[in-house]
Amino acid sequence: MTKLDKQIIITMDGTCGSGKSTIAKRLAERLGVIYLDTGAMYRAVTWKALRALADLNNRESLIELARNTEIRLTRGEEGTRVFVDGREVTRVIRTPEVTNAVKFLADIPEVREVLVAQQRMIARLGSVVAEGRDTGSVVFPDADFKFYIDAPLEVRTARRYAEFIEKGMEITRQAVREDLEKRDHADKNRPVGALRLAEGGIVIDTGATDDIEANLQKILDCLN
Ligand code: DC
Repeated sequence: MTKLDKQIIITMDGTCGSGKSTIAKRLAERLGVIYLDTGAMYRAVTWKALRALADLNNRESLIELARNTEIRLTRGEEGTRVFVDGREVTRVIRTPEVTNAVKFLADIPEVREVLVAQQRMIARLGSVVAEGRDTGSVVFPDADFKFYIDAPLEVRTARRYAEFIEKGMEITRQAVREDLEKRDHADKNRPVGALRLAEGGIVIDTGATDDIEANLQKILDCLN
C-alpha cells in the first residue's frame, strides 16, 4: 500500500461507464484515504425530493430542500453507506427513478453550492479521492492530481449491457447506448458543474482493457 505523508486531494471525474467509480473506490482503499462519492450526494437529495413528492420544476423548493438536508457518508463493509437525515438510503438512491431525476437538482446552481460546500468540508477531515463530474474543475481546483476517466461509447455500452444482463435485466444494447448518450449530454451540458477536463487534468482512457487493476496502475504510475 502506498503511504501518504501529507494531506492529498485526488479528483476523478469522467463519463458514465468509464469505470471511474470502481477505480476511485479502489484507489482510495489502496491509499487508505476517504472515498468521496459526490454522485451519491446528488442522488441523496434527489431521493429526498422524490420521496417528498416535490415539484421537480419548482427550483425554490428544491433549493430549500437541499439546504435542509443532512447527508452523511460513512465507510461500510461493502463500500460507502449513505444517510439522509439519519435514514440509510445506500441502496434506494441507485434506482432508475432517482438516476433519471437527478438532473432536476444537479442543474440548479444553488443546490450545487450546498453540496460543494459539504464536499469541501469532508476534505478538511483528511486526504480524499473525490469522484464525480466537477470535482477537479469546481470543487477542488487546487487538487494535487486531477484525473478524467473516459472510454469510447461503444466500450462503455458493452460494459453496461453486460452488467444489466448479469443482473438478469431485459434490455437491448441499443437502449443502453442511447441512455449513455443521453447522460453524457446531460453531464457535459449542465449549466453549472458540467463535466469537462479540468485545467491540469490527466486523461485516462480505460477503453483498451476492462482490467481494473491495469487501469488503476496507470493512475498509480502518475502519482509516483
Ligand atoms: O456518478 P453518479 O452516476 O452516481 O452520479 C449521479 C448523478 O449526479 C449524475 O446524473 C450526475 C450527477 N453528478 C453531478 O452533477 N455532479 C457530480 N459531482 C457528481 C454527480
